[in-house]
Amino acid sequence: MLSFKAKMQEAARSKGSRIVLALDLPYEAYQNRDRILVKAQNILKMVHPYICAVKINHHLVLPLGAFDGVQQLVEHIRGQGLLAIMDAKVNDIGATNQTIAQYYFAAGFDALIANPFIGWEEGLRPLFEVAKRLDRGIILLCYMSHKGAYEGYGQTIIDPETGEKTLQYLSFAKKAVKYCADGIVVGATQPQKIREVKQVVKEEVPIYSPGIGAQGGAAEEAVKAGANYIIVGREITMALDPAKAAGWLLDSIKGI
Ligand code: XMP
Repeated sequence: MLSFKAKMQEAARSKGSRIVLALDLPYEAYQNRDRILVKAQNILKMVHPYICAVKINHHLVLPLGAFDGVQQLVEHIRGQGLLAIMDAKVNDIGATNQTIAQYYFAAGFDALIANPFIGWEEGLRPLFEVAKRLDRGIILLCYMSHKGAYEGYGQTIIDPETGEKTLQYLSFAKKAVKYCADGIVVGATQPQKIREVKQVVKEEVPIYSPGIGAQGGAAEEAVKAGANYIIVGREITMALDPAKAAGWLLDSIKGI
């Protein structure tokens, strides 16, 4: 059985794309949630030739339901040869994390995003265990793409293992290698931090980079800095022509 990391490599190779679509749509009155599903399906129909995976967030699960609209979408995604990532940013005690993961994996997701601030014992460990048992992936946050990320991910800390000063995100990068995470998320708004993290994780842990377009990051810069995959939402989902927007993005990173 291939690991999620290997499945992503294969999907990127066969699709000729390193773009992960963030299938994000703005708020609509819940009475119109059928329309949200139709919109999401239409975007997928238009964009699937340009991407290798789709990332779904809480704000799609809330109106559509994990075992209703979202499960249908996940089937559609996987039916196109794409992988499905749940951006749950799992962030609780281990027992709760395990149950959250079991539900999302039962809905068909190939991987979950989790927050390393919770620590290993009784935090991440039970999550990694359930993912391993079910042959799914865990991607860890490392440095988020929004402006306030420096307050947490950018802190200077004393590494509890070495007693030396380091930066929080570099410590998370080292831990991602140690835990054999399937990926790490570093914002495209911080290409220098992608470079620094790349030196730590090398090719062992792929870097996923969100924050392209709407948040100010550039796909080319992120990939040049070492991102293996770029995560793109509104730049595609809110475009007048989502297929064209995805095609342009793909052209902008081809051959880098
Ligand atoms: P836009 O529209 O800005 O959407 O392209 C970005 C998508 O990615 C998510 N996002 C993140 N997810 N770590 C994550 O795990 C991050 O640092 C991060 N920054 C943005 C965001 O929720 C949206 O779905």
